[in-house]
Amino acid sequence: MSASYGVVGHPIKHSLSPRIHQYFAEQTGQDMMYSALLAPLDGFAECVKKFRVNGGQGANVTVPFKVEAYQLADEHTSRAKLAQAVNTLSWQMNAQVDGQVKEKLIGDNTDGVGLLRDLTDNLQLDLQGARLLILGAGGAVRGVLGPLLAAGAQIVISNRTPERAFDMISQFAHLGNVTFITDNPSITFDLIINATSASLQQDLPRCEPQWINAQTVCYDMVYADKPTPFMQFAAARGAERCVDGFGMLIEQAAEAFFVWRGVRPDTSELIRTRLVGLMN
Ligand code: ATR
Repeated sequence: MSASYGVVGHPIKHSLSPRIHQYFAEQTGQDMMYSALLAPLDGFAECVKKFRVNGGQGANVTVPFKVEAYQLADEHTSRAKLAQAVNTLSWQMNAQVDGQVKEKLIGDNTDGVGLLRDLTDNLQLDLQGARLLILGAGGAVRGVLGPLLAAGAQIVISNRTPERAFDMISQFAHLGNVTFITDNPSITFDLIINATSASLQQDLPRCEPQWINAQTVCYDMVYADKPTPFMQFAAARGAERCVDGFGMLIEQAAEAFFVWRGVRPDTSELIRTRLVGLMN
């Protein structure tokens, strides 16, 4: 029987994960299936349990359940602990839980490493010492801040609600160089990452024109069929590289696949074609 994996979310119909993992499985010759699982908003834990009883071996977790998945897991990887959120679950058999031999639910988070791979491997950016502005201070930022600091970026955070950014900065300051945006900075950044959910409402978060020049790489963590308001704003400022989060989506999936199957798929064709024409 094929190994069974899936992604749990609400909504879930739009998810590209089943197609991405099917592609990875075919490419690497892994015998597995991957389904989309719609959990009721108050039924995440039940959905995961049922999936396991039916033979599930691992699950991705998406909006709005990443924090709940963190709470559900018996044990967390260090990157999940930093993110305080889980996007990849797997079960470890024969583990010691409360003095008994049971199976253990392990919570991992591959979002940060996914973004980092997209920036450094795919976009060939050198983050060591890079002046990086992050827009936003929500869960999406928490998931990626640790790896970005570890890569040596000098990070400035701007958020509509400054208090949320202050909290986050105080929790991550020991890991590297991260500060809050000053009142009216005239600095131009090497890289700006829009990690707000503003693009989902076709909104533009605060972004001053002087922060961007032709060389500023402008990255929206949201992926979309057409440029987001942030990407459009950046392009109008002359930024030559305006990128959405499709590469991050693929890379976080590849890392989850590696966690489960121990095989690292090649992501280049998927990212180049954006799935079009690769499969039905
Ligand atoms: P996520 O998990 O997607 O990060 P979240 O934790 O709710 O979701 O955080 C959403 C982020 O997008 C926050 O930084 C939020 O700003 P606030 O902290 O001020 O709420 C930001 N955000 C959402 N909509 C926005 C908008 N229209 N303009 C600017 N920032 C916005």
